Amino acid sequence: MTPVKLIIDCDPGVDDAVALLLAFASREALDILGVTTVAGNAGLERTARNARLIRQIANRPEIPVYSGASRPLLRDPVEAGDFHGPSGIGPIPVVEPDVPLAGDDAPQFIVDTIRREPPNTVTLAVTGPATNVALALRLAPDIGPRLRQIVVMGGARSAGGNITASAEYNVYADPHAFQEMLNAGCPIAIFGLDVTYQVLTLPERIDALEAIDTPGAQAAAAIMRFSNAVEADHTRRDGAPLHDPCTIAWLLKPDLFTLRPAFVQVETHNGVAFGHTAVEFRVTPDQANALWAVGADGAGVFALINQKLAL
Ligand code: BDR
Ligand code: CA
Repeated sequence: MTPVKLIIDCDPGVDDAVALLLAFASREALDILGVTTVAGNAGLERTARNARLIRQIANRPEIPVYSGASRPLLRDPVEAGDFHGPSGIGPIPVVEPDVPLAGDDAPQFIVDTIRREPPNTVTLAVTGPATNVALALRLAPDIGPRLRQIVVMGGARSAGGNITASAEYNVYADPHAFQEMLNAGCPIAIFGLDVTYQVLTLPERIDALEAIDTPGAQAAAAIMRFSNAVEADHTRRDGAPLHDPCTIAWLLKPDLFTLRPAFVQVETHNGVAFGHTAVEFRVTPDQANALWAVGADGAGVFALINQKLAL
């Protein structure tokens, strides 16, 4: 199988970090052209450093990391330190990574890379606020239709919100950017809370991962233990939703998920539903603007993570 050419736009972030570890470990399936970072869970300097830290743990120094937007398009920044810890990366010891950033203009890197590669060959995985993506599309609207697809973690329909009653964090943190991304003009697959709450870091799943003696598996297991403790504190639930890795898991093994065509819009007006994703399933194929994930095989996602991080 030809590897998927991939750019990962992220805000690590504990679950972004697991998504990166999974992607970095999938050398034969994914050709990672670059990682771009955005302010979100933590400020830009921390998310950019955290992506480089994870790259170092995964021993993939050849993959360039670019930082990008330091704040959302229009709204005020919202960080999520409660869930990711003060460093943004939970229990991972913070050191200055050996390899520096490749640059600080992530939107331009996204534009240049998509224009350089043949049309419809590059996939963009988005696991943070969509600010870099929206800025890239503003710089060069032609890149939208040149993309093979966008795979994004964001939004909520049946699950309700995780930052307000009806809004999911990534969309709420930059709703205007998410809406601009929906208008990109390429296929979009969206993994919101409806499915990420079906992929839980249950203790026995973490035990199995922790038994794998690789730096990637050890880091991912430590992160999951941290997230479980935070989740238990906040919601008294046993097992935290593993949000961002769903995007990478779907690229690696699509049959782990069920998706439905939908017309998705973001509430961008400031009010009680700010950042809400309105998901309309009653559409004909040509009215749909996205595939919306509704089902996930949680055990299967963990089996995949264990298989890849053992390598
Ligand atoms: C999303 O919000 C962030 O805090 C996580 O990294 C994930 O991307 C889940 O709502
Ligand atoms: Ca994230």
